[in-house]
Amino acid sequence: MTASQISLPQSDYEHIELSPLTLHIGAEISGVDLSAPLPPEVRDEIASAFVAWKVIFFRGQALDHAAHVAFARLFGEPTIGHAVFGHEDEFPEVYSIAKHRTANSIRGASMARAWTDWHTDITAAINPPMASILRGVTIPPYGGDTLWTNLAAAYQALSAPMKAFVEALNGIHRFEAPANGAEKANYRDSIEKRRLEALHPLVTVHPVSGEKVLYVSPAFLQEIDGLAPRESQALLEFLWEHSVRQDFTVRFKWQPGDVAMWDNRSTAHLAPNDIFQSDFDRQLYRVTLVGAPQEGTDGRTSQAIAGAPILSAKEELATAKVH
Ligand code: SIN
Repeated sequence: MTASQISLPQSDYEHIELSPLTLHIGAEISGVDLSAPLPPEVRDEIASAFVAWKVIFFRGQALDHAAHVAFARLFGEPTIGHAVFGHEDEFPEVYSIAKHRTANSIRGASMARAWTDWHTDITAAINPPMASILRGVTIPPYGGDTLWTNLAAAYQALSAPMKAFVEALNGIHRFEAPANGAEKANYRDSIEKRRLEALHPLVTVHPVSGEKVLYVSPAFLQEIDGLAPRESQALLEFLWEHSVRQDFTVRFKWQPGDVAMWDNRSTAHLAPNDIFQSDFDRQLYRVTLVGAPQEGTDGRTSQAIAGAPILSAKEELATAKVH
């Protein structure tokens, strides 16, 4: 199923120009200045394109932190920058995606496999952020691309017996350091301070489009509930590999000022590893929106195994003051 079969056909957008980048995922939107107030009809078409194309891109925008947060707020309530790794001092909603940030201290430490480092943002929480909005500031002249995959297309591509089998299962998502002990002390301290673990249906239903989604977030999904360890590992390896198949993906080449906005309820993404093989700097900033527990095909919902839900920046700061 292509994105245009799911929601608005390309020609139905009247207030934005939309150019699909692949058959299944990713569209560039032009003719919009995100730093200016957006008329409701433009905002609504952006919201439709976001659900249909799963990741949308705006080139050459002039956003600072305040304008970035204001744009995000048109689509939901911004979370704290990062529930585990913190936020910018003056902007609690903004997380710095710096090349050498704490979260990256574990990268490049193991023999990479096709799915290594692919993830959906913080699925170890009962309510992972529903959307992420990333803005490029310092971009390498080459290298440093980001990839996204369409998890609804991944579900559709399964056989009917496999669909029925996985729909009944739940995945256990954990925020933990890799087993090889390569993490730095500040990485370990951060994840121990806010332990997060959640059970999510392995197939979820998107709350807006109604699409079934193979809810596989390789870096966090570590176990299939109720299966024997060998069964769980074998099934996970198939699902991790399947969910990042090239034909479900889009690859984005950044320029300074570009903005990517993606739907965490239907995608996983991969931050680049090649940047660690060059001296080029790379700096982006991210704002995420408060999400809800996921719902399975029979109406069952996510459950927290450890940790509190990720709240808005305001609520998280108030809670932190109390403790
Ligand atoms: C992210 O995982 O949100 C960052 C993606 C990137 O650095 O390209």
